[in-house]
Amino acid sequence: MIRKAGWLLISLAVMSVHARAGERTPPPWEKPLRVGRYLYLENCSICHEINKPKRNKFGPNLFGLFQSEKMPLSRTKPTDELVAAKIKNGGFIMPAFRDYLTDDQIGKVIAYMRSKH
Ligand code: HEC
Repeated sequence: MIRKAGWLLISLAVMSVHARAGERTPPPWEKPLRVGRYLYLENCSICHEINKPKRNKFGPNLFGLFQSEKMPLSRTKPTDELVAAKIKNGGFIMPAFRDYLTDDQIGKVIAYMRSKH
């Protein structure tokens, strides 16, 4: 009986360590860049190339967007705020994503876009 209680305590302790570790480090599939990549693939890649320069899809090429002085079409300096607004509101042709992506998800898409250069 005492032995059993001992094991129970140990396994409870192990479980709570796991639970706490889970809070500190998100599991690999939730790493922001991976989530951002996934969201980008789902929502943007059909219209925007991001993996190489000089290849246009339906929309302007976004490779190295944040490293460039100006955005390909609007010719303004790319900032997180501008790009987030673009994603939320869409454009003349580009669809608006405000009903599909949360601010948090948009942040992750932008982090992914920043990593592509
Ligand atoms: C249906 C095709 C389509 C989809 C999907 C799409 N876009 Fe666009 N996007 C466009 C087009 C076309 C333009 C340029 C004309 C306009 O603004 O409507 C554009 C413009 C942009 C611009 C501004 C470029 C510049 O030089 O001003 C950014 C940034 C951008 N898109 C990011 C994204 C991101 C990020 C996503 C995914 C969340 C996305 N787009 C999804 C078609 C699309």
